[in-house]
Amino acid sequence: MGCTGCHDPHSSKNAKLLKTKLLALCFSCHDKTGFAGKVVHPPVAAGDCMACHSPHSTDEMALLLKKPVAQCLECHPNATHGQHAPSRQPPVSVQAKGNTG
Ligand code: HEC
Ligand code: HEC
Ligand code: HEC
Ligand code: HEC
Repeated sequence: MGCTGCHDPHSSKNAKLLKTKLLALCFSCHDKTGFAGKVVHPPVAAGDCMACHSPHSTDEMALLLKKPVAQCLECHPNATHGQHAPSRQPPVSVQAKGNTG
């Protein structure tokens, strides 16, 4: 998408020439209802979309900063103890990436 979907090329009240404040910016195109369940993940509730996504581009699916499981382990370093099958995926890359901070 063009740069001006999110940035004003001339001037703005917001940092990085963003057209509106961060969370409102994301919800100007993405339906807010998908982020407003009874239980909202704290980083999402805090509007910290950038904890997991890049607004521009990444090598991972869904504009994620890291592979999904590695992304989760960054804030949940002890979440692998149960070894519930889905948490083992992808085992090799998660172990290789580790969680050194
Ligand atoms: C979907 C919204 C969106 C689009 C489209 C977008 N940007 Fe951004 N851009 C952002 C956000 C959000 C930030 C602030 C990131 C932060 O603070 O972590 C940012 C930051 C920047 C910065 C500041 C440096 C940085 O990386 O923090 C530059 C320069 C920039 N964008 C250029 C561009 C250009 C050039 C394009 C078009 C090729 C573009 N952006 C398209 C949302 C967008
Ligand atoms: C100007 C409209 C617009 C804005 C503003 C915008 N997006 Fe998007 N975004 C899109 C479109 C269009 C797509 C591709 C179609 C879709 O997945 O809905 C997309 C896709 C995405 C995807 C999925 C990419 C994929 O590969 O599935 C993520 C994650 C995302 N946006 C996050 C954000 C975040 C975080 C912000 C706020 C910084 C933001 N977007 C702001 C229009 C926008
Ligand atoms: C804790 C990490 C995390 C945070 C914080 C986060 N996301 Fe995501 N997001 C993901 C993951 C993981 C996926 C891929 C989900 C999938 O494949 O089902 C995703 C997918 C998406 C998508 C594409 C699929 C969809 O559901 O439409 C959009 C758009 C999106 N996120 C927007 C946002 C916005 C906007 C915010 C901030 C309000 C946000 N995300 C905060 C982890 C996060
Ligand atoms: C930016 C930090 C951050 C990231 C990244 C993150 N989380 Fe969280 N998550 C939190 C915080 C903070 C809490 C609330 C405190 C706690 O339970 O640890 C939480 C809580 C949770 C909970 C418990 C919710 C409840 O109501 O008990 C689950 C499940 C969860 N996260 C799953 C995930 C998954 C899956 C991912 C990867 C897609 C992920 N988290 C990535 C910060 C994060």
